[in-house]
Amino acid sequence: MCGIVGILGRAPVAEQIVDSLKRLEYRGYDSAGVATLENGELTRRRAEGKLKNLEAKLAKSPLAGHVGIGHTRWATHGKPTEANAHPHAADGVAVVHNGIIENFRELRIELEKQGAVFASETDTETVAHLVNSFIKKGAKPVDAVKQALPRLKGAFALAFVFKDHDDLMVGARKGSPLAVGFGDGEMYLGSDAIALAPFTDDICYLEDGDWVVMNHKGCEIFDEAGKPAKREVLKSGASAFMVDKANYRHFMAKEIHEQPEVVGHTLARYVDMASERISLPTELPFDFNDVQRISIAACGTASLAGFVAKYWFERFARLPVEVDVASEFRYREAPVRKGDLAIFISQSGETADTLAALRYAKAEGMHTLAVVNVPTSTIARESETVMPTLAGPEIGVASTKAFTCQLMTLAALAVAAGKARGVLSDADEAKLVHGLVEIPRLMTEALTHEHEIEKLARDIAKSKDVLYLGRGTSYPLALEGALKLKEISYIHAEGYAAGELKHGPIALIDETMPVVVIAPYDKVFDKTVSNMQEVAARGGRIILMTDAKGAEEATVDSMVTIVMPDMSAAFTPLVYAVPVQLLAYHTAVVMGTDVDQPRNLAKSVTVE
Ligand code: F6R
Repeated sequence: MCGIVGILGRAPVAEQIVDSLKRLEYRGYDSAGVATLENGELTRRRAEGKLKNLEAKLAKSPLAGHVGIGHTRWATHGKPTEANAHPHAADGVAVVHNGIIENFRELRIELEKQGAVFASETDTETVAHLVNSFIKKGAKPVDAVKQALPRLKGAFALAFVFKDHDDLMVGARKGSPLAVGFGDGEMYLGSDAIALAPFTDDICYLEDGDWVVMNHKGCEIFDEAGKPAKREVLKSGASAFMVDKANYRHFMAKEIHEQPEVVGHTLARYVDMASERISLPTELPFDFNDVQRISIAACGTASLAGFVAKYWFERFARLPVEVDVASEFRYREAPVRKGDLAIFISQSGETADTLAALRYAKAEGMHTLAVVNVPTSTIARESETVMPTLAGPEIGVASTKAFTCQLMTLAALAVAAGKARGVLSDADEAKLVHGLVEIPRLMTEALTHEHEIEKLARDIAKSKDVLYLGRGTSYPLALEGALKLKEISYIHAEGYAAGELKHGPIALIDETMPVVVIAPYDKVFDKTVSNMQEVAARGGRIILMTDAKGAEEATVDSMVTIVMPDMSAAFTPLVYAVPVQLLAYHTAVVMGTDVDQPRNLAKSVTVE
């Protein structure tokens, strides 16, 4: 989603702003722009498409201002054209915005009646004109923003600069994240700490409703009611993040390969390896024995991690679990029980629907627990309990290492629940923990199949449709495989429970249709083999991901087998995620798509 950067600097800032915007590229965008103040005048450069187009414009006509704002736009209102790119301006006000102004139509009509002339189709331009309307009535810039903010409905992070005010920047946040950075005689605004990492480690996150008035020396923060507010300055540690691809061609490849390491870090956070016990770093504010049902809400890949965890909670702790995509949970007014547990899973911790679902559960008196990768995120801050995943920054839009770290965290929690409820004995716990401890090594082994998978991908890339099948915990992984393939290769793919095949999707099978079957040798393996026979009988081509025993037992025609290491049946999705991700990745590479920033997708989805 849109990225925001603002710099009150001591030297020309346009280049720094673009560098910082590059660090926000991972969020997804389709146009970009910068505005700086030069001798009190606001000047903008904007371009459709990638940042290199903006850089080319800046090279032709540079901006020399020491104060500036920049933006990467992920189109919501209006096409990704230069005219719709931010910053938007009205006379002496320029603004960048992340979010959606829901009442922009009413505001636009009102402002047009007052004589405002709009140059774009965006909701954001309304904000510039609204603030300008107060300035025209005599308000100083800060007061104009103060008067405008309560008129805005929706979600926003905003950064303003004003003509003739080269020691002023105003920021505001409601719904969408915004961080203030403190430098040496310089101040910064950014959508996240990664954007500000080249400049400073000292970061403060605005709370919902906050707005900030900044000059070169510091800032004053106000809450929604306009009262001065104190917000803690934290060390972000983001400057330590190496936001580069190392020797990989894409961030996604790097992130797939990082999994043994980061899943290992996450494991070490939740497991005492010496005693083979789960050891949660925080005491839970509820007793699993008082919980009658768990509700899990999340979006996309994170919701599929929740779907895998459903099997674990139900099996290890005999606790019923409902999994919802957050956009449904938040509106369907689900009857929930006070004191029950609601789990929210999110890489970014900023996903608008997941956040809204969290607020709903909180208002209903549920205990809330967040599994998040960004510990300073809104979802983390608003949840009663936080279990961080230690994946590190995930830059590729398609989630890979965040998914497996979510799985590791949820597996540990499910075993803890089983133990607390007396379903698992000490010996059961030790056995399961032993299984978890082996995961990083098994993932490394799974990665050795890359070459084989790369070859297979050349074949998959010729297909128009692909089916993914699985049973048990391999079913949500089949859904994840299909999601991963379609989002980065643009090949249509569907995931099904293998048993559902003959209830409809079998009609699609012919000799052009690859069917990826995820089937470790387990108690339902034979059933899945029967489903594979049904596919083979109709000429379908099967790619079977299984283990040595599975490969030996499955005698089906026209089959390619990828043999995964032998492992504890409980946690196979953690290891089988690797070939699933690699297949999607290499297919996308063959297709020549923009793997790290696939079309139309955003990394941090801060709008509904
Ligand atoms: C798919 C993918 C998305 C995200 C979803 C939730 O590869 O990355 O489906 O999983 O947008 O995002 P977070 O986890 O940030 O809440």
